This record gives sequence, structure tokens and C-alpha cells, in this order.
Amino acid sequence: MRVAMIGTGYVGLVSGACFADFGHVVTCIDKDAAKIDALNNGEIPIYEPGLQQLVAKNVDEERLFFTTDPAEAIRAADAVFIAVGTPTRRGDGHADLTYVYAASEEIAGLLEGFTVVVTKSTVPVGTGDEVEAIIRRTNPAADFAVVSNPEFLREGAAINDFKRPDRVVVGTDSDEAVKVMRELYRPLYLNETPIIVTKRRTSELIKYAANAFLAAKITFINEIADLCEAVGANVQEVSRGIGLDNRIGSKFLHAGPGYGGSCFPKDTLALSRIGTDAGVELKIVNSVIEVNAARKKNMADKVIEFMGGDVSGKTIAMLGLAFKPNTDDMRDAPSIDIVSKLQASGAHIRAFDPASMGEAAHIMENVLFCDGPYHAIENSEALVIVTEWDQFRALDLDRVISSLRVPNVIDLRNIYDPGDMTARGFRYTSVGRSY
Ligand code: UDX
Repeated sequence: MRVAMIGTGYVGLVSGACFADFGHVVTCIDKDAAKIDALNNGEIPIYEPGLQQLVAKNVDEERLFFTTDPAEAIRAADAVFIAVGTPTRRGDGHADLTYVYAASEEIAGLLEGFTVVVTKSTVPVGTGDEVEAIIRRTNPAADFAVVSNPEFLREGAAINDFKRPDRVVVGTDSDEAVKVMRELYRPLYLNETPIIVTKRRTSELIKYAANAFLAAKITFINEIADLCEAVGANVQEVSRGIGLDNRIGSKFLHAGPGYGGSCFPKDTLALSRIGTDAGVELKIVNSVIEVNAARKKNMADKVIEFMGGDVSGKTIAMLGLAFKPNTDDMRDAPSIDIVSKLQASGAHIRAFDPASMGEAAHIMENVLFCDGPYHAIENSEALVIVTEWDQFRALDLDRVISSLRVPNVIDLRNIYDPGDMTARGFRYTSVGRSY
């Protein structure tokens, strides 16, 4: 099959490289000439484990191409994927669909033969209808079907998520389009991955419902963590105790500083707005948004309280800034709220993150970005663990305790054992673990 992928952001690039690896011929298209040049030189603009090798292999084997010119690839394509950004629109929280609609218009004039136009970007319910209307209006003679095929890729694990998904969702009324989609995902189909074929609007909603449910699951366990601290219980044991019930499931029950990233904050907000527009108040989703936003700020209070209620003039080391490990993504990272509130309370921040300090430097002011974890800890009055990178799980604790001026450790990801840390002489606290 021939695929044209519009947008070489995170989703477009990962999906394009993976489809090429499935054996299809994929052309990734982007308006940003510098980005396309870089990609043609083998440089990958995002940090995603395994992506560089996957791109290089498929470029070498002449199945993966990058260009700024959509014409040829779209004419030849069996499927054109729209994988452009849908950021939160300023002011109202709706998803901004400008790029999706602009891409639809551009595609319309170039279609030749039956072509499936696929929305991969996370788009509000009804966007597929609008994409169809735009193409029909721009090119009444076009032979096409618009399909919703949401992605469920986690940053840092995106290639695996693409190649070994729990399910593939295909939303369309067109049997011909379903055939093309099945062919595209054939390697998965052979692996017996369920392919859910549904109406387009249902498919669009599945993506938002999945993300909102996961965000709710995290927010729920975070709330239970607060209760655990208050009543002398341990949230990790509660998670295990409830997660082994198959109806609940053990994933996404790690208590922490609140969710961040490019999807959950944006998609929960957009879902809430979709509800409002449809006259349905989504109370649970709204609470999740509110509770999570408050939690990120509360984490700074937790640090301040643990340090005796006043951090003015004190130096605090932060390990981890990205919203989660194995990414340089800082979008809506809890570290942003934590740093700004600690700074507002007079603290000096020294920080280290293996991948995101470049990004963080654009967002945070007056932070001393350090060369490594031990450099950050030096002479600090507390160590705050914000992101659970593997390298922070294996710190030389003797070195940590001798480098810290005061042996306070606030572990917001529960990566160390409270009993062990106390026995080593640390003043230690974590999330939702009274013991
Ligand atoms: C998410 C979805 O998992 C993915 O399916 C969707 O396509 C995009 O959004 P991503 O944002 O990359 O992926 O990261 P994910 O691993 O899901 O983590 C999101 C946030 O939740 C992170 O801030 C993470 O630290 C937090 N989290 C996750 C928890 O606090 N506890 C958990 O148990 C799991």
C-alpha cells in the first residue's frame, strides 16, 4: 500500500515509520522545510527510543520518504493520514482544528482514484464529517472515504504501542475503506489484534473516552493516596489490592504528582468542552481536570511542609523535569508548577533531567540546570524526585546523603523504600505511603 502522512510531529513520524516497517511505502509530508531537511539527513526532531533506527532502516530500504511537496505522494496514495497538531485553542479549551481543516483542503485537490483519508490526530466528535464536507466542497469529483483511526501511543513506548496495540479502532461507513485499513494493519491482524470497526463519531469518541478514563484512574488513585497518608495506609498496597481485580486492572494506578503530557490535559479539557457543546455536563471529567491541576500545586506545598513550613533562601534539588521518563516533553509537566511555587516561596532550585533540560530552559527561569544528579544534590537542603527515570532509581545513596546539606528526600514517584531510606539516615517522605 502507499501511504501519505501529513504532519511529521510525534504521531505522524512514529506512525509513518511503523507503517513503512510493516512493508508499505510511506511519504511523510511537512510544511516545515528545515524539519524535512533534518529528517532527510537522518536527524529525528523528537526523543523517542528506537525511532532513529527505525527511520534509518526504512529510509535505507526505500520505503520511507520525507518531503515538503504533497502532490505526488497524495496522488499515488491508497491512504492519506492527517496527523497534524490539534492544540488547545486559546481562551476556550476547545481543540484547535485549523491545521486539520487546512490539510483537508490541500488534500482535496490532489486526490486521484479511490483514496482513504484518515484522521489520526485526536479530533472532536464530528470532525470527520467536516473533513468530508471540506473535501467534497473543494473537489466534488473526488472518490474518497474519511476514516477515523485514533492513535493510542504513549511517549517513550510509542513504537511498541503501534506495533503491539491492544486494539485498532477504525471508524467509517465505507466497506471499501475498511478493506484498505485492514490491509494497512495486516501484520497486526495476523497477530490477532482486535480491529474494532465502528461509526466515525463513535471512533472519535473512543479516543477521548479512553484518555479521560485513564486520567480519571490516575486521579482516583492520587486521591486515595492522600487518604492513605491521613489514615496510616499504603497506596501501593491498595493499588495492588484493587488492581488484581480484573474488572479494575493494575495499570495506571501509580500514585504520583499528577498527570501531565501532551494528551491527558489537552484531551480531558477538550472532552469537557465537547460535552458542554452537546448539552451534557461531564462532571467526572471536570473533577478530574480540577483535582489534577490542584494536585500539581499541592506537591510544592508538600515539599514546603516537609521542610518545616519555610523554604525561603533554601536550596532544593529536583531530579526529573519531563512529565514522565524517556521523553524530553515538558508539556504540562508537574515540575513546572512545583518549581514555580517553590521559587515563589523563596527557594533556589537546582535541577537535572537526562533529556528535557533544553526544553525546560525555555519554560523555567532562575533554575540552575546541573550536569548530573549528584551535581544537583550538592549542598541542597532537600532532594525532590519528580520523574522516575531509571537512573534515579539506582542512585548511590551513600553519595546522596553525604552531598546533601540536609538529608531530606521527597520522593513523588515512590521509587525508594521508606523503611530503607529512614534506616540510612534520610528524612524521607513519598506519596500515599505511611509506612
Ligand atoms: C497517553 C496515553 O497513554 C496514550 O494512549 C495516548 O495516546 C496519549 O496519552 P502519554 O501522555 O505519552 O500517553 O503518557 P502516559 O504514559 O499515559 O502517562 C501520562 C501521565 O500520567 C504522565 O504524567 C504519567 O506520569 C502519569 N501517570 C501514568 C501516573 O501518574 N500514574 C500512572 O499510573 C500512569
